[in-house]
Amino acid sequence: MQINRLDAGELAKKFGTPLYVYDFERIKDNARRLKSAFYSDEIKTALFYSVKANSHPAVVHLLKECGYGCDCVSPNEIEIALKAGVKPSDIIYVGNYESLEDLNAVVRAGTKLVLDDINSLDRLLRITRPEMVSFRINPGKGQGKYEQINTAGIKAKFGVPHEKAWLAYEKALKAGVKRFGAHMMAGSGILEEEHFPRMLELLLDILGQISQKLGITFEFVDMGGGFGIPYYGDDHDLDIQQVGSECLKVFKNKIDSLPIGKPALHLEPGRYLVGDAGYLLTRVIGFKESYQNFAGLDAGFNTLIRSALYKAQHPIIVHNKENETELFPINLCGQICENTDIFTVGRPLPKLTEGDLVIITQTGAYGYAMSMTYNHRLRPSEVAIINGQAVEITRREVMSDYWNRIKYPKVQ
Ligand code: LLP
Repeated sequence: MQINRLDAGELAKKFGTPLYVYDFERIKDNARRLKSAFYSDEIKTALFYSVKANSHPAVVHLLKECGYGCDCVSPNEIEIALKAGVKPSDIIYVGNYESLEDLNAVVRAGTKLVLDDINSLDRLLRITRPEMVSFRINPGKGQGKYEQINTAGIKAKFGVPHEKAWLAYEKALKAGVKRFGAHMMAGSGILEEEHFPRMLELLLDILGQISQKLGITFEFVDMGGGFGIPYYGDDHDLDIQQVGSECLKVFKNKIDSLPIGKPALHLEPGRYLVGDAGYLLTRVIGFKESYQNFAGLDAGFNTLIRSALYKAQHPIIVHNKENETELFPINLCGQICENTDIFTVGRPLPKLTEGDLVIITQTGAYGYAMSMTYNHRLRPSEVAIINGQAVEITRREVMSDYWNRIKYPKVQ
C-alpha cells in the first residue's frame, strides 16, 4: 500500500511500528472542500478546527494556514493553538464543567468562550464581568454514529437544556452582559446530510424564542462539528456540498424571519478534516488457535481505543496482500491485558503471517489523541507526509519520559 505515493512498508521499516502516518495533502483537500461548501456571499461564516480530534501542533498549524481557527476544550489545547500561531480571537473555548482555573486561563488568553451551563456563568462572574457571553444549548435531541458519541439529547451531559436556555441568557443580561452568542453540538460521526440543516433550524427557532422573550440578539451561532467520514461496511461519503448549501439556506431564511439579529455562522469540524488522512501501521506478532482464531498486533487499544470504546470498525489493509482474493475470518487484537483489546472479530482478511504489516485506515481523528500508556505500552511516533517527504513529528515515547515524572520515595 502507498500513502501519498510513499510505500507503507518502507515507512514502517524506517520509523518502526506501531506508527501513525498523516497525509497532510489530504488534510488540505478536506479543509478546502469543507470551506467551499460553507462559503456564502451573504452570510459570514467562520471555521474552527476542533483540536481534540488531533492536537498535534503541526496539524493545527496546517489548518490555521488553511484559514481555520481552533475550537479548544481545555487551557492546554489553547496553549497548543497559540503555539501553532493561531490568534486568540480565532480561538473558541468550548469547555465542560469549566473550573475557576480553566475560566481564569481562558479570560487571560483572551479567546472566545462558550459556557456549558448556567453554573459556569456563576464561576465566570466571580472572575470578571464579561462583555459577551455564549452558551452551549442542548436542543433536546441529537444523533451519533454510536450512542456514546451522541453529544445532545436527554442522555447527554453537555449544554443547557433548551427549555432553560432563556434563563441562562437572562442571568447574563441582568449581570450587565451586552453581547451574546449561541452554540450547539448535536452529535459526532454523522453521515446523514439532513441532520445538519434540521438541527440548525431547531437551534435557530430556540434562539428566536429567547430573542423574543429577552430582546437580545446573537453575534454568532455555532453549529458545532459532527460531519462524518466513511469507516467500514455500508458507510458512504457525506455530501458536504449538500450539507453546506442546505445549512446556509436555513440560516438565511431564519435570520431574515426571526428577531435574532445578523449572527455569523460558526462551525467546529474535527473528524472531517483529519480522520481520513491518518493511517495506523502495526505488525502481526503471532497467532493463536483457541476457541476462536486470533492474530496479535503490536498496536492495541492503548494505541487506538475506538474499537474497544464504541465497537468502531475501521478498514484494515494487509500490506502487499491487497489483491489476494482468498480471505479467512480472523480476530485482530493487541497486547493489552483486557478482553476489550480487540480491533475486529471475524474480519475476512488474507492469510496473515508473522511480521505482516497491517494498516488500519481512517485513524487521523481520535486516534493518537486518545492513546494511552496502559500496561506501560508506550505511545507510538507520528509521521507527517509533507511535500512527498515523510517527517517524524512526534518521537516514540521511551521509559525515561515516564521516569522523568516519577518521584520514587525510599521505602523503609
Ligand atoms: N465541537 C465540540 C463542542 C465537540 O464536543 C466536538 C466533539 C467537536 C466540535 C468535533 O466533532 P467532530 O467534527 O469531530 O465530530 N472520540 C469520538 C468522538 C467524540 C466527539 C466529541 N466531541 C470518536 O472517536 O468517534
